[in-house]
Amino acid sequence: MNIHELQKLFYDLYGKPDETPGMYFAPGRVNLIGEHTDYNGGFVLPCALQYGTYLLIRKRDDKLLKFASTNFDFKTGYDLSQGFIKQQGQWINYPLGIFEQFDRLKISLPGFDMLFSGDIPNSAGLSSSASIEMAVAYALASMLNVTSLKMTDLINLSKRSENEFIGVNCGIMDMFAVGMGSADHAIFLNCHTLEYKQIPLILNGYKLVIANTNKQRGLADSKYNERVTECKEAVEAIRPHFPVNNLGEVGFMQFFKIQDVIEDERVRRRARHVISENQRVLNAVSALYKNDLMQFGALMNASHESLRDNYEVTGVELDTLVEEAWKIPGVIGSRMTGAGFGGCTVSIVRDDAVAKFIDEVGLNYKKRTGHAASFYIAEVSGGPRELKSETI
Ligand code: GLA
Repeated sequence: MNIHELQKLFYDLYGKPDETPGMYFAPGRVNLIGEHTDYNGGFVLPCALQYGTYLLIRKRDDKLLKFASTNFDFKTGYDLSQGFIKQQGQWINYPLGIFEQFDRLKISLPGFDMLFSGDIPNSAGLSSSASIEMAVAYALASMLNVTSLKMTDLINLSKRSENEFIGVNCGIMDMFAVGMGSADHAIFLNCHTLEYKQIPLILNGYKLVIANTNKQRGLADSKYNERVTECKEAVEAIRPHFPVNNLGEVGFMQFFKIQDVIEDERVRRRARHVISENQRVLNAVSALYKNDLMQFGALMNASHESLRDNYEVTGVELDTLVEEAWKIPGVIGSRMTGAGFGGCTVSIVRDDAVAKFIDEVGLNYKKRTGHAASFYIAEVSGGPRELKSETI
């Protein structure tokens, strides 16, 4: 759907064709390496995608929020004068949580007519929720002229909304990657200090290919929160011997000296993943600076193995997609991306091997799991923006 079609749909839904809505876009993201490190104060290396959330939005004279989406056959209203009450099982909680954050900042909120349209697959580990949250946060700051809110404030308030309103104890990576996205750059972020650097991602002759397992991510949130707790247990076990507040502060060599203080073998493996993954991010950034994509790919493969064996967040579908990818000549790295438990893999594939990759990985995955995978060629794109008349 292009922007004119979306505008037409907006007028069909809400009328008043002489009052043009604001039009905004926020991307999704894919994480290249640095998985399950963000809530441990570690390093991550994600990038923003060309896929994302489009939002058409216009102020109303009352206190009603009107929601519609091209992705679901669903329309609803919400009265702001009742305060902020989480709705059972509905995607409008993502925008509603952002409205609540603005309200907490004592920003006076009118009602709005809104039309959402997303082209990121849902529940696939590509941050469709952070993309909705950041699209709403960016649009509200712009429509209400709240110039005091910088991009880092919008990122922080989106994270607070996800933690407190939605109830997922996620780290800051997703919102940060969405907010700070830049074309052809990966974002190297220290999740403890929030210092970051845009690293040129030069993929001469290669493509980033995303493959979706299309497996429903049942129990993903509770399993995710379980891993967060296990990492806290690891910190508690280490702390009496070595003063740390999070696993991100423990160096890779240090860990091998002190790991036996973590008595629980499972918790020790969780820590081993986080601490080794942190080191892999540092090595991956050096590899990018040296233009050494082969090394980068090898680190992606090692990341997957650690997520499979130490962190146990892959599962048969993700493992099968990655194993099949590793078999294709021209694939220099492949791993699961995002929280895991289903969702997507990301692979670096030589241009002339992409067609074979899609055919063979798709076929063998179907044979082995019974599911059909979907494939996307990722373009690394910019962060939230207002759209004028470009085609979407
Ligand atoms: C999800 C969370 C992120 C991050 C990843 C795993 O995407 O939202 O904060 O923890 O999982 O790296």
